[in-house]
Amino acid sequence: MTSGSTPPASAAVRSVTVRVPAKVNVQLAVGPPRPDGFHDLANVFLAVGLYDDVTATEADGLRVTVSGADAAAVPTDTSNLAARAAQLLAARHGREPNVHLHIAKDIPVAGGMAGGSADGAGALLACDELWGTRTDPEELLGICAELGSDVPFSLVGGAALGRGRGERLTTLSVKGPLYWVFAVADGGLSTPEVYGEFDRLAAGRTVPEPDPSPAVLDALGSGDPADLAAALGAIDGGNDLQPAALSLRPALAATLAAGTAAGALAALVSGSGPTCAFLAADESAAADIAAALAASGTCRKARVAQAPAPGAAVVG
Ligand code: C5P
Repeated sequence: MTSGSTPPASAAVRSVTVRVPAKVNVQLAVGPPRPDGFHDLANVFLAVGLYDDVTATEADGLRVTVSGADAAAVPTDTSNLAARAAQLLAARHGREPNVHLHIAKDIPVAGGMAGGSADGAGALLACDELWGTRTDPEELLGICAELGSDVPFSLVGGAALGRGRGERLTTLSVKGPLYWVFAVADGGLSTPEVYGEFDRLAAGRTVPEPDPSPAVLDALGSGDPADLAAALGAIDGGNDLQPAALSLRPALAATLAAGTAAGALAALVSGSGPTCAFLAADESAAADIAAALAASGTCRKARVAQAPAPGAAVVG
């Protein structure tokens, strides 16, 4: 496999582009470690309007290229979920994974926003379309679950409750637009390390089975950001991985404080971090919070995004 930074150029070769959203975990309730090392979750996923575009182009072998500001941080070997997705889909249909996958990356890398998962889901859909393999939607979801716990949600988007390790989805009702601001940190955090730190911090106490907060689900359904913020406040912010992320990256406390001081209704680490997510009252509050965060020196950049966003979809 080779790496590079240019998208496929030839107009004569067939290609398919799929757009896939990032996610924020509005609530992430984490249970004790299971025998297989994973943790059972009550994972309230919300897709947000930051996107990666994955283009699948006919090729003689499998190769991955990436463009975008953080392209250098994205692997182009088979540790990239997009490459794994092509391999799994090809194997299901008894064919070679001959495809050039180009990822135009806009989702923060290793940021707790499911950027890698998005690329897996995007590549799966793009290859299915390019190869004309017409995989059954349930089977596509099964391949997503094999790729990673967050990948099925990247395919469906919107809002969903993820049980099991996060892969068993139930669609949730959500009313938008909800405005979020994301503070992108320097460098990423490793998801397994954050879960490991969660276990270390939980040692000696009983971790309850994870359950979604009915108030959070109600507030998502009504689309009132103040209600959602109040519901998150009542469950200590909503993200059980947040103390672990803060323990590994104490500087995130200053980021959360800067967003709160700028008027965010709720401030939380996104998933395993280190991206921090801020819920805004409306569009203009979101712009103010983003400007304040960018000026605060507590993050690398700030992005505004609306939710809910649609799941993976063919756009070209
Ligand atoms: O499923 P995925 O490959 O995204 O998981 C990455 C790592 O995160 C796992 O190897 C595991 O350490 C941790 N994880 C977990 N419980 C989950 C999801 C992920 O412990 N429900």
